[in-house]
Amino acid sequence: MTTKTFTIAIDGPAAAGKGTLSRRIAEQYGFHHLDTGLTYRATAKALLDADLPLDDEAVAEKMAREVELGGLDRDILSRHEIGEAASKIAVMPAVRRALVEAQRRFAAKVPGTVLDGRDIGTVVCPDAPVKLYVTASPEVRARRRYDEILGKGATADFDAIFEDVKRRDDRDMNRADSPMKPAVDAHLLDTSEMSIEAAFQAAKSYIDAALDRN
Ligand code: DC
Repeated sequence: MTTKTFTIAIDGPAAAGKGTLSRRIAEQYGFHHLDTGLTYRATAKALLDADLPLDDEAVAEKMAREVELGGLDRDILSRHEIGEAASKIAVMPAVRRALVEAQRRFAAKVPGTVLDGRDIGTVVCPDAPVKLYVTASPEVRARRRYDEILGKGATADFDAIFEDVKRRDDRDMNRADSPMKPAVDAHLLDTSEMSIEAAFQAAKSYIDAALDRN
């Protein structure tokens, strides 16, 4: 029996295509997938639901320690207020420590795991044999968000979404603890002008090469 696992770390900003890519990769290789943004969102939702403050680190840490990794659902956690609150509590070192511990336990599952987030290649799984940093310009990401909302039959304000994307990037990239940035050994995939299929094929070639070396 093998206990060795193989982890694929996927980082990058919101709406760059990371989620879709991560799910496809997990399916292709039969690996477990964790969207780590959902762990921050679930913590934020628990605080909001309990009417607890978002600026009390000890309270937020306690909630973070209670998050169950099974059953995290992006549909339930996708609300804009939850994303905003998640980005606020994600600056707190005690919250990050609690969630990173849970994420590392998940990453050890066999035969392999795909974790996507902001700090997987730099902090959570620095030894991952494959690291990808998936990005796209803020305009392209805002446009995707906008089209997605219209596609659901709702209305949206492009300028507001664009400002929101930039504000969220700014908070994620400039926090002191585990800021969003590519690991030095990450492969960069800019999906501004690349289809998800092309990004998947590029990712697959990096992964296959690393699996051969493993
Ligand atoms: O990817 P997302 O929008 O679901 O993430 C929600 C927030 O959580 C986002 O503002 C950044 C934060 N986050 C983080 O700090 N580290 C991660 N590994 C994943 C998400």
